[in-house]
Amino acid sequence: MKFPKDLLGIKDLSADQINEILKTAGIMKEIIVKNNKKTPHLQGKTVITLFYENSTRTRLSFELASKYLSANAANVAVASSSVAKGESLIDTARTIDMMGNDALVIRHQSAGAPHLVAANVNASVINAGDGMNEHPTQALLDAYTMIEKKGKLEGLKVAIVGDVLHSRVARSNIYLLNKFGAEVTLCAPSTLLPVEIERLNVKAYTDVEKAIKGADVVMGLRMQLERQKKGLFPSIDEYSDLFGVNEERIKLAKEDAIILHPGPVNRGVEITSGIYGHERSFIDEQVLNGVAVRMAILYLLTRKGQGEDK
Ligand code: CP
Repeated sequence: MKFPKDLLGIKDLSADQINEILKTAGIMKEIIVKNNKKTPHLQGKTVITLFYENSTRTRLSFELASKYLSANAANVAVASSSVAKGESLIDTARTIDMMGNDALVIRHQSAGAPHLVAANVNASVINAGDGMNEHPTQALLDAYTMIEKKGKLEGLKVAIVGDVLHSRVARSNIYLLNKFGAEVTLCAPSTLLPVEIERLNVKAYTDVEKAIKGADVVMGLRMQLERQKKGLFPSIDEYSDLFGVNEERIKLAKEDAIILHPGPVNRGVEITSGIYGHERSFIDEQVLNGVAVRMAILYLLTRKGQGEDK
């Protein structure tokens, strides 16, 4: 199956392409869980990470994914790079491209930044999160985890609870789950629900108990304090009282419901520590699956013959 040069959003991927990524991730996961994490899939390729926003999981998992597949991997430390001297995004990306790079993994605070870069470089560009737009590789690893634990996406009731307004993770998950016939319910204070909600084919609640009731998957979202304008909710304590997922509320979900969170978690705000460590919480497994999914994406995008349709 052919893939485009770049992975910029779930919106651009077909269901078949998503299935191919998830199937390949299964093979990659087998490689990770073996003791010898090294295969020649990306031998001779170079992968650069360029993150204008902080990250632990996404950046490190792309770096490890590259190394496990035998690519040359390097990171641009934006704060100490020539970006600090005023070099533009496009000039920075083109400079990296001229060094023989094959895949550029970019996170940026502005929606659309990876799309702009993709139009100006030869390397495959992978969106690792752009503003409040999309975080496609997170949605892919979430889908992988849901299928691993629940067998399929079709018909799953997925409750996404938290700061939906600022969440690129929520948007990418909604686009992906809609493609596969899952039923998505969002829950947040009305000030933290997106204005375009009617176009998203989701249910929305401001009552967390109604949102969680009967869910197969409960996904907490981080309260994005760094993106908040003041006044969207009264206080963190009030938010966690009214919207936090805790041990009592999770009992309203199906008895075999799973708990996910993209991380990083504000313990005691969007979910309690008890929910993080719950026997049906797969938050840690999401991290492992993130490496497998990113290995699959790097392999599928950069293998010979890809990208010619773009
Ligand atoms: N989930 C996620 O994107 O985490 P990081 O910000 O640590 O990459």
